[in-house]
Amino acid sequence: MTERTFSIIKPDATKRNLTGKINAVIEDAGLRIVAQRRIRMTEAQAKAFYEVHKERPFYGELVETMTSAPVVVQVLEGDNAVAKYREVMGATNPEQAAAGTIRKLFALNVGENSVHGSDSQDNAKIEIAQFFTEDQIVG
Ligand code: CMP
Repeated sequence: MTERTFSIIKPDATKRNLTGKINAVIEDAGLRIVAQRRIRMTEAQAKAFYEVHKERPFYGELVETMTSAPVVVQVLEGDNAVAKYREVMGATNPEQAAAGTIRKLFALNVGENSVHGSDSQDNAKIEIAQFFTEDQIVG
């Protein structure tokens, strides 16, 4: 079933000029980039985006990292996009990520793991709405 997921190319990746290489992995996997914008995430945006993690010990560090340099926010579309993108990204911790995945190829560590992807269709809708209006998504 065609669905959408939300993706972020994180500061560690934009700083190392990896946007194009990551987009190539995404597109080679059959996912279509139907919206994309490079932004500097504000502290308020990062805090709201990662609200579910606010009790975690790494929350402060996470917000700091995500606001430290530009990110690229994206909407990806394709067959089973949520699950497919999670497969393409690899495990959160790059040490556990499978060969060929974005995190295995590019991530530095669990906090600087190059990309974010939604973990469910419900969260994809919520996350997309935090950064894009429907008219900005061109499928
Ligand atoms: P992401 O998919 O963006 O969702 C939450 C993020 O928290 C996750 O990717 C990691 O970058 C980060 N994270 C998860 N666990 C840790 C940890 N133990 N230390 C630092 N950051 C973490």
